[in-house]
Amino acid sequence: MHEARTFQTQLTIAAARLKSVGLERPGREARHLMQHVCGLTATQLINCENDLMSDGQSEAFFDAVERRACGEPYEYLTGEAWFCGLAFACTPDTLIPRGDSEVVVDEALARLPLGREAKVADLGTGTGCLLIALMKQQPGLSGVGIDRSAGAVEVARRNVRTHGLEARAAMLALGWAEWEGWDEMDLIISNPPYIRSDVIGTLDTSVKAYEPHSALDGGTSGLDAYREIISLAARHMKKDAWLVFEIGFDQADEVRKLLEMAGFEAISVAQDTGQRDRVVTARR
Ligand SMILES: C[S@@+](CC[C@H](N)C(=O)[O-])C[C@H]1O[C@@H](n2cnc3c(N)ncnc32)[C@H](O)[C@@H]1O
Repeated sequence: MHEARTFQTQLTIAAARLKSVGLERPGREARHLMQHVCGLTATQLINCENDLMSDGQSEAFFDAVERRACGEPYEYLTGEAWFCGLAFACTPDTLIPRGDSEVVVDEALARLPLGREAKVADLGTGTGCLLIALMKQQPGLSGVGIDRSAGAVEVARRNVRTHGLEARAAMLALGWAEWEGWDEMDLIISNPPYIRSDVIGTLDTSVKAYEPHSALDGGTSGLDAYREIISLAARHMKKDAWLVFEIGFDQADEVRKLLEMAGFEAISVAQDTGQRDRVVTARR
């Protein structure tokens, strides 16, 4: 056990431990973990840096630091992730929202002129981050998030309540093949599982050992979810409605071909901030 020391000295020890495993911002992560464990704001932590930490606080803090050093994602340790400037509850039942997915929100917004009332569905909603971020920026939207993971849907419902969207957003625990609302939607967004099964084992420990494989694994080709959604969308979506997919950086050509073969029009590809292909959009 660590002997009682000041918040500042414990921070220094924790930052050194996180640095030793190669984390990019050890000092910052240590500080945020301490705030989370001790229930302190940034200002409160600055003001008590020279105070002694209790044994209980120290133990809880170094437990979190050790879990982080072993690869557990910061967002699962704190239960919170940020996306489009909004905080989302996040648990091991949900994928951790990624900044790259903000391109989905941008592309969706570009298809929906401000002020227009419209209906949107988010297939594989996870935390609900895509749908909720979109709805916060577009007051005319109502929507539904669908996920076959009951645990994820529970988290998504919590996020809907936190962001005050209960009257406009419903979260359903369903497989997207069981959902019957396709023809009511003006826009369908999805960040489906798209990593090839044989690549999963090569991902960082923090991803492969902690994030749900059902949110990552896109089958042998990585395209299983696109094939299923495009086949359902081709049969059930209403004419002129939009479909906006997040894709892996090397999947634009294959997803474009699947959409063309299913008769979709106005297909375009958008890039993320790293200039990698990230989103494919098409009109029914
Ligand atoms: C890559 S995660 C995306 C989560 C969230 N939309 C995001 O961008 O952070 C994919 C989600 O799709 C869900 N999913 C996978 N296959 C599904 C299916 N056939 N029906 C419904 N949900 C599915 C998974 O449970 C997972 O939560």
